[in-house]
Amino acid sequence: MIVLGIETSCDETAVALVTDDRKLLAHELYSQVKAHSRYGGVVPEIAARAHLERLEMLVDAACLKAGISLQGVDVVAATGGPGLIGGVIVGTVAAKALALSLNKPYVAVNHLEAHALMPRFIDDISFPFLLLLVSGGHCQLLLARDVGQYEIMGSTMDDAVGEAFDKVAKKLCLPLPGGPHVEKLAREGDKDAYNLPFPLKGKKEHSLNFSFSGLKTAVLNKIDDPEFGENDMPNLCASFQEVVGQSLEDRSRYALMKLKEDNTDLKGFVVSGGVAANESIRLKLEKMCIDHKIPFFAPPVSLCTDNGVMVAWAGLERFNKGLISPLDFAPRPRWPLSEL
Ligand code: KG4
Ligand code: ZN
Repeated sequence: MIVLGIETSCDETAVALVTDDRKLLAHELYSQVKAHSRYGGVVPEIAARAHLERLEMLVDAACLKAGISLQGVDVVAATGGPGLIGGVIVGTVAAKALALSLNKPYVAVNHLEAHALMPRFIDDISFPFLLLLVSGGHCQLLLARDVGQYEIMGSTMDDAVGEAFDKVAKKLCLPLPGGPHVEKLAREGDKDAYNLPFPLKGKKEHSLNFSFSGLKTAVLNKIDDPEFGENDMPNLCASFQEVVGQSLEDRSRYALMKLKEDNTDLKGFVVSGGVAANESIRLKLEKMCIDHKIPFFAPPVSLCTDNGVMVAWAGLERFNKGLISPLDFAPRPRWPLSEL
């Protein structure tokens, strides 16, 4: 069986074809980063228009690469939310039109579930697993019980973790998305150079929640200091990245402990979403899993950020459970995983 996945929820137009025996037949991705860079962030109207201009070409290119015609597609899946609504509408309408004209099932995929299930395309991961979802729009700890069944254990009270990386990068005049650029500078820096505030320190009632705005503001204030110069950038990036990693690890450890207390038969720990591409954060979490004797999983770095593969795969997982969507499915800007 071949599933077509379409991702248009932010600034990547992405299309992939995957099979039910976990083969990747084609993966096409057009990043709109250049179109948005002069505005310092993603402009929803520009994004939606760019998706519209590129999508058909990318679907054709994917079919060509896979050596199939559109008739060879068995299921059409597209991100139905959450995300920038203009882009989500473009992907949804395209997927519905394809499904209708090809007489094939349509699956609306929740973008967060696509990140969550992505690692199962690569590794054999059974449910339930603890999921740390870290992206540009989200930072959550979830207990994934099955496809479509997620319990939120904790989430950010303010900025998403990727958003904090992006804001620090913007202040340092680094290109967007900022995460990879902050990570690159951090590699040359000393993580102990700056003493930055640890988020929600000592707040027992928030042992499972995250907060990054205080940390972000502390970093922005350091950059505003007249003494701060270009040479200080690697040290500041390294110190910031270190505290972010420690905070993610601290909350994940607590969640693992809670689940152990509840006798949850946890099969693994999964980190996914754009920030999971960060090597230092991955290493911290991997070490935590070794301490807790629990298998650690993360998508390959190239598949952490938004892509079509995760949508195709999540579409396939839902289809296998009989979860196909009606053609009057309404695309949505907000769609928490707990509502699945
Ligand atoms: O999952 P994603 O592609 O889009 C959303 O669903 O939000 O995540 C994008 C976010 C951006 O904020 C980007 O700066 C961050 O992931 N990111 C990183 C790294 N690569 C991407 N953050 C830290 N380190 C990285 N290497
Ligand atoms: Zn994403």
